[in-house]
Amino acid sequence: MTDVRIAVNAERQYDVVIGRGVLGELAPMVDGATRVAVIHPATLAATAEEIREDLEQHGCSAILIEIPDAEEAKTSEVLAFCWSALGQSGFTRNDAIVAVGGGATTDLAGFVAATWLRGIRFVNVPTTLAGMVDAAIGGKTGINTADGKNLVGAFYSPAGVLCDLTALTTLPRNDLIAGMAEVVKVGLTSDRSILDDVLAQPSDCLDPSSTLLPSLIARAVQVKADVVGSDFREQAGAGGRIGREVLNYGHTFGHAVEKVERYKWRHGAAVSVGLMYVAELARLAGRLSDADADLHREALTGLGLPVSYSASKWPELFGAMQVDKKARGSLLRFVVLDRIGEPAVLEGPDPALLAAAYGAISA
Ligand code: GLY
Repeated sequence: MTDVRIAVNAERQYDVVIGRGVLGELAPMVDGATRVAVIHPATLAATAEEIREDLEQHGCSAILIEIPDAEEAKTSEVLAFCWSALGQSGFTRNDAIVAVGGGATTDLAGFVAATWLRGIRFVNVPTTLAGMVDAAIGGKTGINTADGKNLVGAFYSPAGVLCDLTALTTLPRNDLIAGMAEVVKVGLTSDRSILDDVLAQPSDCLDPSSTLLPSLIARAVQVKADVVGSDFREQAGAGGRIGREVLNYGHTFGHAVEKVERYKWRHGAAVSVGLMYVAELARLAGRLSDADADLHREALTGLGLPVSYSASKWPELFGAMQVDKKARGSLLRFVVLDRIGEPAVLEGPDPALLAAAYGAISA
């Protein structure tokens, strides 16, 4: 595959580059920086060191900042640790950060960049499928608090995103499967060709050497770039028109599952259950046809993603979803589909309907 370059026009313009061996594009993206911090989890120490050496060869003084893996990175303690590392190395407003890792790493590192000296340049190098198609693009940065996910953060765009497809060849299969939940989400809400390909060739979706997976990534990134370009700060919903909020399809319930699971589940697995939940919700509300709800189940289970959750957990999940309500207004909001490719917002649904939808997915 030749490299694909997709422009995102948010509060600043930047490129998402997708291809094999695209890290050669990194040095120009941090051009002019004297110091660069490469923020990475321990599992990616070797990749981070290669990047550090490459930056040194291009004349930067590059340091490594190792952070915990996955959601353990998204805490105020880790944030303060990174600030301290930048402070001790004398990072100025001209300097830059490179985030190497999955969505948790790029969320945290982006927030470090957004807050250091009121904002310095950062480049995302996502190494997971979920990072490439979702978390690393769009400028949502932040950390979790004891009350919920992503409650502290900033909209702050990277200077560029480099999706090196070779990273997927060593990604554990369960991470690849989990990342596909975000791809299916885009297929359901915004690009029918993605959904059709997932339904027709589920095993190629999980094969990094296939031609299908890079093509799915490029199409999912294009959708995200378009959405973010038209509603960077997720404000469109206030006027009734659905904007960036469409990307939250399956996430109101998915975030609740993540919280109940104490962030031990992969984000994509929780989103998968959330997609199935919201399909049942829309079906029971008389908005989505049985056939379209079934397409959710078929696409997700074809990839080995979960579509049900423990029957006893409803009170806890319902409680966890109230945090989402606090974040978005006085009423609980769900992105739902009226048909495949026709997203809308369902606000303040009857609690009996919410419980009934849970009944349809609980095991
Ligand atoms: N991951 C949802 C968004 O970027 O808006």
